Amino acid sequence: MRVLFVGDIVGKPGVDYVREVLQRLASERKPDLVVANAENAADGRGLTRRIAETLYDSGVEIITMGNHTWDQKELASWIDEDERIVRPANFPDGVPGQGFTVCRVNGIQTLIVNLMGRTFLSQLDCPFRTLDHILEQFPDVRHVLVDMHAETTSEKLAIGWAYDGRVSAVLGTHTHVPTADERVLPGGTAYLTDVGMVGPVDGILGMDRNSVIYKMRTQMPARFTVAGGLRQFCAVQVDLDDQTGKAAAIERIFIRE
Ligand SMILES: [Fe+2]
Repeated sequence: MRVLFVGDIVGKPGVDYVREVLQRLASERKPDLVVANAENAADGRGLTRRIAETLYDSGVEIITMGNHTWDQKELASWIDEDERIVRPANFPDGVPGQGFTVCRVNGIQTLIVNLMGRTFLSQLDCPFRTLDHILEQFPDVRHVLVDMHAETTSEKLAIGWAYDGRVSAVLGTHTHVPTADERVLPGGTAYLTDVGMVGPVDGILGMDRNSVIYKMRTQMPARFTVAGGLRQFCAVQVDLDDQTGKAAAIERIFIRE
C-alpha cells in the first residue's frame, strides 16, 4: 500500500497549491491513500467545512489536525459527522471529534491516529499512554499511521522509537519546516521528524513575515496573516508491506514554485 502524506496546509495559498499539485502527483505516484494535515488551512488557523470539501475534491481522503483544531469554532458543530477528520487523540475526554479513524484501503484495515506533543504546547494527556490505549483496541489492524503534531524534534523521535515495529509510520507535523531524517527504523516503522508545509515560501511558517518580526521585536500584539508569493509543497510517500504492515520505503517530496 502506498500512502501520500501532505504536510501542514497553510491558508488559501496552501489549499490552492494542493489543488494544483495533488492530482498530478497522484497520477504519477498512484497512492492508495492520501492523508493531509489541515489544521492551518483556514487563514492559518483551523479548518472550515468549505475548505475540507475543497481538500476532499482535490484528492485528500483523510484530514489530520493539531493545536489549531478549534480555531474555527464551526468545526466543533460538525466534526462528529465527518469520520475523515482526525483531531489529536490526547485531547481531554469528551471534546468533539475523534482521535483516530479506521478505513479500508484495498480491503486492508488502516488505522490513522493524530497525536499532539506537550512540550511548548498545551498540557494534554500523555501521547504514549494515549497511543497504547488506541493500539490495544485494534490488535488486528494491519497498517497504523501516526501524525505526531509536536514542536520539539525529541518528542517526535521518542514516539518514533517507542513504537518502532508496532506502527507503520510516525510522521511529524507542526513546525512547517521539513527535516531531512526520513528513514525506516530497524523494526519497520517509517519515520520523519517533520514533513514540512504546503504554503508561502517567503513568510515565516507561511505567515506574513513583517507582522511576525514586529511582534518578536516589540513584544506588542500583532495580527498574523497568511503570506503571499511563491509556494512550496511538502509531502512524504510511504510504501507499506501489506503482509506485515511494516514500511518498505519512505521518500520525501518537496516541490517549490
Ligand atoms: Fe500546529
